[in-house]
Amino acid sequence: MPVTTNIEDLRVLAKRRVPRMFYDYADSGSWTESTYRANEQDFNRILFRQRVAVNMEPRSTQSTMVGQPVAMPVAIAPTGLTGMQHADGEILAARAARKFGIPFTLSTMSVCSIEDVAAGTDNHPFWFQLYVMRDRDFIARLIDRAKAANCSALVLTLDLQILGQRHKDIKNGLSVPPKPTIPNILNLMTKPRWCLGMLGTRRHNFGNIFGHVKGVENLGSLAEWTSKQFDPTLSWADVEWVKQRWGGKLILKGIQDVEDARLAVDSGADALVVSNHGGRQLDGAPSSISALPEIVQEVGNRIEVHMDGGIRSGQHVLKAVALGAKGTYIGRAMLYGLGAMGEAGVTRTLEIIHRELELSMAFCGRTDVASVDTSILLPGSYPTGTPRGY
Ligand SMILES: Cc1cc2nc3c(=O)[nH]c(=O)nc-3n(C[C@H](O)[C@H](O)[C@H](O)COP(=O)(O)O)c2cc1C
Repeated sequence: MPVTTNIEDLRVLAKRRVPRMFYDYADSGSWTESTYRANEQDFNRILFRQRVAVNMEPRSTQSTMVGQPVAMPVAIAPTGLTGMQHADGEILAARAARKFGIPFTLSTMSVCSIEDVAAGTDNHPFWFQLYVMRDRDFIARLIDRAKAANCSALVLTLDLQILGQRHKDIKNGLSVPPKPTIPNILNLMTKPRWCLGMLGTRRHNFGNIFGHVKGVENLGSLAEWTSKQFDPTLSWADVEWVKQRWGGKLILKGIQDVEDARLAVDSGADALVVSNHGGRQLDGAPSSISALPEIVQEVGNRIEVHMDGGIRSGQHVLKAVALGAKGTYIGRAMLYGLGAMGEAGVTRTLEIIHRELELSMAFCGRTDVASVDTSILLPGSYPTGTPRGY
């Protein structure tokens, strides 16, 4: 196994091993990608306060997210097409998360179905992410399937009723499975591991949708499917409907604005995720880390606030926690690990992030993640109040 010491190593390896159209699908944002870049860059502008001669043992990163114990305040973010980064990708990532003791969130647009992941993880509870589509009967059945599979939280995504344009996906002709065009075949010939893995599984399509929606034989392109099926009229009344139907822990994902955060509180959800979908939707929106403090300030005592976007190290997790996030999610950091080395790669991602988190916390003079707050950050280096002011 190649020696990997940070998430960038895994990204480079994934780029080598994953077919171009799927690597590009992960490593891109919408339009100019300015929000995608800002998500990570803004983390790097925040500075820690180094403290010394403080007992650094024992250290704990244990916490809870929506009342459930987590080995560190990190969950795996829902990502579509994960089973195209590596054969059976969702099952492998869910197993790695389970062994590490953190939540795995399965996307509606996954390749392995809800039932596949449940069976592949011995019915260990995982989280399910819901996109609301026009066909409400299908959505009602999907919620029921998540309940039947023992899912312990529902993550309702609110920021993708229409799809942000990602130039590379259009140019690559992104489709699942890839079409046998000459450029695709030439590219696949350079990815023997990936091809062998895919030959060994029957899961090559959108497992939650195929065979469950009447008349769907072929999804065509992702953009085409989204524009036809996703419901652009989604409203807070629908959130209420989903909440009633689900009846369990509900997390609202994709909140960036303080007014929406207040509405999320009013909806009675258990948590919200400050997220701009990894810079894949509204390009030109502020980074998640710069949007976080104002939302925490406004609603943090009434709802659990989580965040995602740009996390590539345990230091980023620590900064998010310092700024008030009770939990964080990793999207691409997980995908790079998976594309690089399957389940072992996702485990490696989690080990790297955990170690960086734990050591950085100790360098800041803290031994328990529960005691982390803004006092570990250098005043003036971190965003406060409105994201515009940062
Ligand atoms: C390739 C890819 C696919 C994604 N698919 C979904 C999805 O199906 N549902 C969803 O709610 N979010 C989806 N997201 C957004 C992630 O859940 C998360 O918000 C984002 O990846 C966080 O940013 P990060 O990748 O910098 O960690 C996707 C992100 C990526 C990179």
